[in-house]
Amino acid sequence: MAGDTADRPKPRLIVDCDPGQDDAVAIVVAAAYGELLGITTVGGNAPLADVTRNALLTCQLFGLDVPVYAGEATPLKAEPLHAPEIHGTSGFAGPSLPELDREPEHPHAVEYLIERVRADEGLWLVQIGPATNVATAFAKAPDLPGRLAGVSFMGGSASGGNRTAAAEFNALADPEALDVVLGSDTEIRMCGLDLTMQLTVDDQLVSDIRDVAAPDGGALGNPGAKVIADLFGHYLERIEALAGHRVGGLHDPCAVLAVTHPELFEMVKRPTGVELRGSLTRGMTVVDRRSRVSEGDTGIPWTDAGQFHPVWHCVSLDVVAARSLVVDALNQVGTKSDR
Ligand code: BDR
Ligand code: CA
Repeated sequence: MAGDTADRPKPRLIVDCDPGQDDAVAIVVAAAYGELLGITTVGGNAPLADVTRNALLTCQLFGLDVPVYAGEATPLKAEPLHAPEIHGTSGFAGPSLPELDREPEHPHAVEYLIERVRADEGLWLVQIGPATNVATAFAKAPDLPGRLAGVSFMGGSASGGNRTAAAEFNALADPEALDVVLGSDTEIRMCGLDLTMQLTVDDQLVSDIRDVAAPDGGALGNPGAKVIADLFGHYLERIEALAGHRVGGLHDPCAVLAVTHPELFEMVKRPTGVELRGSLTRGMTVVDRRSRVSEGDTGIPWTDAGQFHPVWHCVSLDVVAARSLVVDALNQVGTKSDR
């Protein structure tokens, strides 16, 4: 198996998400290669009620006994931003979906984050939606960043946006919250568009996932993988309608793999900030690629100190291994025998 990690302990993770097809795959990848303790949801790709239902559906389809907590419906200051043009109004456009047989847990996601991180040092937060929940938790409980192993997030870009010319969707949806997270005193790993567009969804991947769903075209052994293949099929149709080609980024699983399989990545620590004011550039992440900043190096002039923060910028990954890990995760988790 690609990137075999059998000999090392699985990192303990909480996934903060807004499913969305790529969030759903990230949940499955986290369950396969990490110890997935909990899932928190945040308004983003679709309104909070929809993304919470989609997180619960993902757990149901893949037989995951992981608690789901609903969090913030709206950003700290911005108006809510959704992505129906990519994910449909429900966030899960494409497949026919089963009726939901489970409910979110109490308390609110922010309270859960505070309680869980205080109870258990050394957890990773994998933030793959707008940063609202994590920033709110950090503001209410300033001791949290110091208790974490770190935050690995999908968001931003070092080279242009997708929601606007300058800004990536998650960063634009709540830039004030992302600013809080970037400035927090914990290790931050950033999987921006420049990284996540290297790991792509295309017709071949959809076909590989359909094979996992029903090996040899036989009986459907893995209904979760079938739903993921249908979600990705819809995603490719939307990309084709919007951009004229059938290739899209497989964004969110990258932020999980950056924790479970860091050896697949090249990471460089770079001064990074998020633009809060620009009329053309609000939500843009600015990654200073002029210099390599090493631990303890104070010799580099950091312009606008206070706005730039040290962030491990994930620059590249082994896409062949990452793709294979994603397909293996959908296979393993979707067909495990104790369901
Ligand atoms: C990010 O935005 C969402 O649409 C995806 O789920 C991903 O987290 C990509 O810009
Ligand atoms: Ca997402």
